[in-house]
Amino acid sequence: MVRNSILKWSFLQLLININFQPAFAAPSRQNLSHHEYDYVVVGGGPAGLVLVEQLTLHPQVSVLLLEAGPDSSLDPLVSTPAYWFETSAYLWNYTSAPDPALNGRTPDLWQGRALGGGSSVNGMGYCRGASSVFDEWAEISGNPGLAWNSMFEAFKATTHFQEDIHPEDQVAVNLTSFGNGPVEITTQRYQLSLDRPLVNLFKSTKNVPEIDFVSGYGIGVTEQTDAIRASNRTRSYAWNTFGWLAANRPNFEVRHDAWASRIGFTGKKADSVTYNDTLSNTMHTVTANKVVVSAGAIGSPQLLMLSGIGPTAHLEALNISVVHDSPMVGQNLMDHHYAQLVFEASPSLDTVWQFTGNATGRQIAEAEYDTNGDGLLGGVDGNVFSAIRLPDSVFAGLGNYHTSLPADRPHFIYEYATVPFQTQYQNQSVITPFMALVQPEGRGNVTLATNDYRDHPIINAAYWATPADKAAILYAYKDYRSLIGSPELKQYLPVELFPGANITSDEDIWSAIQQSSGSFHHPMGTVAIGSVLDENWRVHGVEGLRVIGSPAAPKIITCHTMATSYALGYRAAQDIIAADLS
Ligand SMILES: Cc1cc2nc3c(=O)[nH]c(=O)nc-3n(C[C@H](O)[C@H](O)[C@H](O)COP(=O)(O)OP(=O)(O)OC[C@H]3O[C@@H](n4cnc5c(N)ncnc54)[C@H](O)[C@@H]3O)c2cc1C
Ligand SMILES: *[C@@H]1O[C@H](CO)[C@@H](O)[C@H](O)[C@H]1NC(C)=O
Ligand SMILES: *[C@@H]1O[C@H](CO)[C@@H](O)[C@H](O)[C@H]1NC(C)=O
Ligand SMILES: *[C@@H]1O[C@H](CO)[C@@H](O)[C@H](O)[C@H]1NC(C)=O
Ligand SMILES: *[C@@H]1O[C@H](CO)[C@@H](O)[C@H](O)[C@H]1NC(C)=O
Ligand SMILES: *[C@@H]1O[C@H](CO)[C@@H](O)[C@H](O)[C@H]1NC(C)=O
Ligand SMILES: *[C@@H]1O[C@H](CO)[C@@H](O)[C@H](O)[C@H]1NC(C)=O
Ligand SMILES: *[C@@H]1O[C@H](CO)[C@@H](O)[C@H](O)[C@H]1NC(C)=O
Ligand SMILES: *[C@@H]1O[C@H](CO)[C@@H](O)[C@H](O)[C@H]1NC(C)=O
Ligand SMILES: *[C@@H]1O[C@H](CO)[C@@H](O)[C@H](O)[C@H]1NC(C)=O
Ligand SMILES: *[C@@H]1O[C@H](CO)[C@@H](O)[C@H](O)[C@H]1NC(C)=O
Repeated sequence: MVRNSILKWSFLQLLININFQPAFAAPSRQNLSHHEYDYVVVGGGPAGLVLVEQLTLHPQVSVLLLEAGPDSSLDPLVSTPAYWFETSAYLWNYTSAPDPALNGRTPDLWQGRALGGGSSVNGMGYCRGASSVFDEWAEISGNPGLAWNSMFEAFKATTHFQEDIHPEDQVAVNLTSFGNGPVEITTQRYQLSLDRPLVNLFKSTKNVPEIDFVSGYGIGVTEQTDAIRASNRTRSYAWNTFGWLAANRPNFEVRHDAWASRIGFTGKKADSVTYNDTLSNTMHTVTANKVVVSAGAIGSPQLLMLSGIGPTAHLEALNISVVHDSPMVGQNLMDHHYAQLVFEASPSLDTVWQFTGNATGRQIAEAEYDTNGDGLLGGVDGNVFSAIRLPDSVFAGLGNYHTSLPADRPHFIYEYATVPFQTQYQNQSVITPFMALVQPEGRGNVTLATNDYRDHPIINAAYWATPADKAAILYAYKDYRSLIGSPELKQYLPVELFPGANITSDEDIWSAIQQSSGSFHHPMGTVAIGSVLDENWRVHGVEGLRVIGSPAAPKIITCHTMATSYALGYRAAQDIIAADLS
């Protein structure tokens, strides 16, 4: 009952929002008269913003959101899809610790740092992946709301699908997999010249079906759907959807540029949050009846440990007084790691070089985009998404982790970008095909470097960390390389630039993998439900403290993680409302 009325009300709000768009972002610094907030939520990414939007539907509840980053909604680099890789002003510039599998290399692990979190800087690819992952979550956590059937409703409640005004893509999208939620999902308008040939090649050589990745399927190929507003090809993300809905309500207050340093406790009850107002460089403490941390998979375990919740020996070594010994805080880190190829693009092939490497090209692209979102700038750069399961033989003698994954789970996703990832190719028209291990056996961890909240934590990312993970990337690297290098694509991709024709032995290929490995920026699992958290997202051993979103996922999913972060926020909101407000 409660749920139905919430859905109806969200839809009404959505209509209001669509019809009466404010000319600029809603006011984001207003003071409530409360001295104590019912909820203080730390972190304004997809999970946090869905939660505050759902909580503030209840007029008796007061909610304060603290977000370390700024409001970036007026920045064209954020709103223009093809410029997503130029949003570095809104990032936590994390790097992983020297990784033993990479000969000590330290790939970046950027995370979003603005209202909207990762959804304000990410590549906007929208997918959900294999349904069996969510059923496994429900088992691990004891929370039936995480099973696919229920998560499917949460995916629908957070999004709607809007056909583009001139769709060029031939994408099969099951419209019944979307609902009436605020985030707008669409397909590409401008079809990149490589996309269709590559999809066809996957279908014929990999024997995979062309499917959508929003209806529960894990394995196949598609031209992906994206979180882009179809009318004018601008980014649809957590702040200009859920955030703006909440911002108009009197029981909500948001403070951006508010960097939380510590959660305060009275005994074992969380009751305050201290933060740095980085606009004035002053520290403030707000009191809260309940605190919810939605600070992403790196920021959340860091804030918990700084506040005395984590492995005792680690905290004591840093002179942090222990509130509760919670050994799994920061453990169980999973991410999607990739390795790259680089191919020279023929002149006819669409790449970002058309507008980054050529002033005339940039003018043309900007003029096209300014009319109504047409052209290269209105889409993401490289839109083919293929999810592949490797043959069992790859893992012979290397244990049964990968071979025993449920049948709908892919081991790898194969994609490509029209952007050079390595600066040495910045002045050339190239594409970067990359393959990411999506169900890694290895687990990383996040620990504190110091007890100063301003210092980045130490992130052991665990690249290719088990013999089976290493065998998997070696196989996939060769597999995708031969596919991309096949005769059908020669007219588009005449020359392999990296690793290059002379790299043929397994030893040299492994070295190319080590040099070109990076993070897809999909960390999950560091404050997991079913281990650190009880089934209602509460941190075991203390009161009044919850963690939601990507850190709370018990295992990583099989595709990009944004869609799931929205749905996790939605599921947590329903659980919190049911437990606290009824
Ligand atoms: C570069 C990049 C590209 C990506 N591409 C895609 C893609 O194409 N498709 C896809 O599905 N997913 C993509 N992702 C992943 C996706 O964006 C994340 O999975 C998702 O945003 C996670 O949501 P969240 O709410 O759990 O955390 P986040 O989005 O990380 O939000 C956490 C928020 O908390 C804030 N915060 C952290 N610490 C503090 C603190 N101490 N005080 C106050 N605030 C704090 C952060 O600034 C941030 O805004 C990408 C991510 C990145 C970074
Ligand atoms: C909010 O309250 C603070 C502290 O009391 C005050 O300095 C500030 O001016 C107020 N802001 C608004 C918009 O009223
Ligand atoms: C991250 O790095 C970019 C580019 O170097 C810089 O512009 C940005 O300010 C940095 N972000 C933070 C939060 O320091
Ligand atoms: C579309 O989704 C519905 C509901 O999940 C399902 O019953 C139907 O089989 C799907 N159709 C296709 C073509 O996948
Ligand atoms: C794009 O369209 C949305 C409505 O769908 C509107 O709110 C927004 O202001 C538009 N943005 C630009 C840059 O025109
Ligand atoms: C507040 O944050 C700024 C960075 O934005 C930092 O330079 C400053 O030291 C911080 N202030 C305190 C008191 O922690
Ligand atoms: C440890 O913390 C206590 C109080 O919190 C402080 O007095 C002491 O100086 C700290 N010691 C170190 C080595 O930082
Ligand atoms: C720059 O772009 C224009 C317009 O697309 C094109 O005609 C021209 O050949 C390009 N120049 C170079 C050097 O690629
Ligand atoms: C690319 O061109 C820019 C500007 O001319 C130059 O500064 C840079 O060094 C070049 N990079 C490479 C890898 O050649
Ligand atoms: C974190 O992971 C690294 C690399 O696997 C490992 O050496 C280290 O012991 C782990 N640290 C903790 C605290 O678990
Ligand atoms: C492959 O060729 C490149 C460029 O000619 C050279 O730098 C590299 O050392 C060669 N690698 C091997 C393993 O032969």
